[in-house]
Order: sequence, then structure tokens, then C-alpha cells
Amino acid sequence: MTPNRRLFLSQLMAVSGLFVLLVYAIVPLVSGSEQYIVFFLLTGAYFAIILLFYQVYKNYVRPVRYLSHTIESLVNGNYNVRVYEDYHIDTGRLQGAINKLARHLQDLNRQEKMHARQLNSVIENMASGVMLIDQQGYVHLVNKRFVDLFGLERERYTEALYYDVLDQEQIHETIQEVFLYEQPIKNEMTLTKDLTTYHLEVIGAPYFNRSHDLRGAVLVFHDVTEFKRLEQMRKDFVANVSHELRTPITSIKGFAETMLEDDLDKDLRVRFLSIIYKESHRLQLLIQDLLDLSKLEKSAFQLNYQTVNMDHLIQESVEMAKVQAKEKDIRLVIEGDTNLTLLADYDRLKQVILNLIYNAINYTPSEGIVTISITDALGYIKVDVSDNGMGIDAASIPRIFERFYRVDKARSRNTGGTGLGLSIAKHIIEAHQGRIDVHSEVDKGSIFTIVLPKEQA
Ligand SMILES: Nc1ncnc2c1ncn2[C@@H]1O[C@H](COP(=O)(O)OP(=O)(O)OP(=O)(O)O)[C@@H](O)[C@H]1O
Ligand SMILES: [Mg+2]
Repeated sequence: MTPNRRLFLSQLMAVSGLFVLLVYAIVPLVSGSEQYIVFFLLTGAYFAIILLFYQVYKNYVRPVRYLSHTIESLVNGNYNVRVYEDYHIDTGRLQGAINKLARHLQDLNRQEKMHARQLNSVIENMASGVMLIDQQGYVHLVNKRFVDLFGLERERYTEALYYDVLDQEQIHETIQEVFLYEQPIKNEMTLTKDLTTYHLEVIGAPYFNRSHDLRGAVLVFHDVTEFKRLEQMRKDFVANVSHELRTPITSIKGFAETMLEDDLDKDLRVRFLSIIYKESHRLQLLIQDLLDLSKLEKSAFQLNYQTVNMDHLIQESVEMAKVQAKEKDIRLVIEGDTNLTLLADYDRLKQVILNLIYNAINYTPSEGIVTISITDALGYIKVDVSDNGMGIDAASIPRIFERFYRVDKARSRNTGGTGLGLSIAKHIIEAHQGRIDVHSEVDKGSIFTIVLPKEQA
């Protein structure tokens, strides 16, 4: 039996008992036929009260009890509950309103959960590490990147004091400054993990409640390792360029000064002038290479694609290198299937091939052989420029495509090199979606290989 029905029956029994008492108390007080009248009147009143009582129970007591149950469930966070809507009874509109309220709460709850999920996935998948602490220093939230960077399991951070789980002094300082000045603080730190050093930028920001009391701090850790590396490269580049420019300028200035001050004989003057000429030529080459590099590095750099006949390109390059090869008695050999075409920037590609041939000639002793061989490789063209010269030691191989890197600085400077040739070549080949590689053995020789797609995607 439901509590409602139990309540109804107990009330019914109480009213019935009262009427039985009334009948027993009042009926003997009257006499004769009036007794019947009183009895019928009391019975009539009894049924009228029962009917009234039932109406009140059905229309108010029972629905209100159901409603209070429903409201209790809503208060407890169960927004799925609904009441039966009966518009024939007086509380019907109230039931409708409660159901509307329940639906509204359910929608709000669904939206709130969705927003929480969205916010959570934004924080979780941010490229930067995030940590949230309260004003006592307890960690409340860390994201995936933070866990990746600092290494402990996620559970170790949450609800721990930040200084118990993070021993980096810069983090402690940042948090203390945020709490002290109550404004965003930016610091830098390094972090060594798995033998890799990361450069991190730490930004701490305080957060407040509505009445502007400090409630804690959010710390964001940006990985600026790549940026630092590029900055270092830029600094090195500037230092290298300055050095490379200073060397020829110093010697031009020195020789010019001597010529101005001293009365030199003709032979010496010619010697000095030829040095000045050679050095200014080197300066010109260097500046040309630097301009080339900066052009290649511009994002708007465009290759001038055209159908390139490999045979034509190789013949022309070899023709140009002949003079230098002849000076050193070096034989230039062309091998393989030169009768191929591809889509490429003719002048840029020739610049690369010439550079490789010049290198091969420069770094090979007299009477050596430089071979240019072409292979058709299914959608690609492979060009090998090989020599039997001095070769490159294993430690230098990964570095020779770097700007200004020269295996033997003095020697390659003597050959007039700037150390930019291969890095320009790599840029050009990569702009063509191709690859450039090297195999080399000291005193045996080197093979530079270019692989280029015949068509551009
Ligand atoms: N065929 C080769 N054999 C041996 N060493 C080579 C060869 N090609 C390049 N190298 C080494 O790689 C270095 C870088 O070559 P790269 O062409 O970039 O510069 P470079 O020849 O010195 O100057 P340039 O910018 O005028 O070409 C050279 O200094 C040389 O030490
Ligand atoms: Mg070179």
C-alpha cells in the first residue's frame, strides 16, 4: 500500500469513528421518529464529508505529495523525473509548470556539461602545459602537455602542494611573484628530460573571485625550444656573415693602405692588386650567395617551372665547368640515361648541379675523375655527382649542408668557397620537393645524390 493511500484510509477511519461516536452520542438524546431523521442527517453529513474529503485528497493531497517527491529528486540533481500532468484537477497547471522547470533544468545541465567538456578538451589538448593552483598552493588541475613535460603521473600532482611535486626554482619564484604582486608574471626556465633540454617560458597569472579576493594562480608553460634554436641560428648566422665579410675587407684595406703609403715597384703593385681583385671577387660571391639564400628563404619564393631536358642541362653545366677541370687535369664524365625530361626551374637546377660539379673539382686532387650520372627511377630522376677526391669525414657529413660549414676552413677558403653552396643547393632541391644526400669516405671520394620528382604535385 502506498503512503498516500495509507494516509487516506487512516483519515477515513478517523472520520468514520467520529461519526459513529456522534451517532452514539446524539441519537439517544432525541426520541421517536426524530431519531431516524437525526440518524439519516448524520449519515448524509458523513457521506458528504467523505466525498469532500476524497476530493481534497485527490485534487490536492495526492498531487502535492507527488510534486514534493519530484522536487526533491530535482534538488538531488535527477533532472529526468517528471510528474503526470492531469489538467482535470486543480493542481494540473502546477504539475505542468514543474515539468517545464524540470525540462529547463535538464537542458541547462546538459549545456553546462557540454561546456565543461569543451573547456576541458581545450585545456587538455593545448600545446602548452597548464597548471592551476589555489591560494594555499594546492594543485587543482594539470593538462596532458604539463604531465608530458614534468614527468610524474597526473594523480601525483592533483591535490598536492606545488613545491612538493615541482622542484624547479623558477616555478616557485614565478608563483611567489604572482601571489605577491597579484599580476601576471613572465619568466624563463630550462628543463632537462630524457637528455633533451627544453626552454620554457612560464607565464603565471592570478585569478580572483567576484569580490576581487585572490583565489589562486594559473601557470602556462610554452615550449620555446625551437624558437631559441632559431634565435641561436640567427645569432650564429650574423656572427658568421660578419666574420666572412671582415676577412676579405681586412685584406683589401690592408693591401690598399700599403699601396697608398709606399712607393711600390710594378711587380709588387700587380701582386697586391691581384690580391685585392681576388678578395673583392670573393666578397661579391659571398654577397651574391647571401642574397640568393635570403631570396630562397622568403615564403613568397616561387620556382619558375618549365620542362627541363636533362641532357641539355648537364651538357651546359659540364661545358661551364670544363675550364676549372682542365686547370686541375680532372676528367669530367657523363653517364647514364640523359635523355629524360622533368618539370623544374632550369636555372636553379643548373645552379645546384654546377655547385656539385665545382665542389667535386675543388675537393679532388689533380688528375681525378668527376662523374655525373643520371638514372630514371619511376617518377623520379636521380643525379649522382661523384668524385674520387679527398672525401668528407663521418663527423662532418651531417653538417655540410649547414650555412658556412666547411670541413677544412682554411683550405676551402683558399678555393674561394663561402660555405653557402650546399645549403643553397639543399634549399633549391627541397623547394622542388626533392632530396639531396651525400655518401663519402675520406681519401676515397664523395657521391652527392639528388632525387627529383618528374612532375610536381
Ligand atoms: N665533393 C666534395 N668532396 C669533399 N668535400 C666536399 C665536397 N663537397 C663539399 N665538401 C665540403 O663541404 C663544405 C661545404 O660545401 P659548400 O659547397 O657548401 O661550401 P664551399 O664549397 O666551401 O663554398 P661555396 O659556397 O663557394 O660552394 C666544403 O667546404 C667542403 O669542406
Ligand atoms: Mg661549394
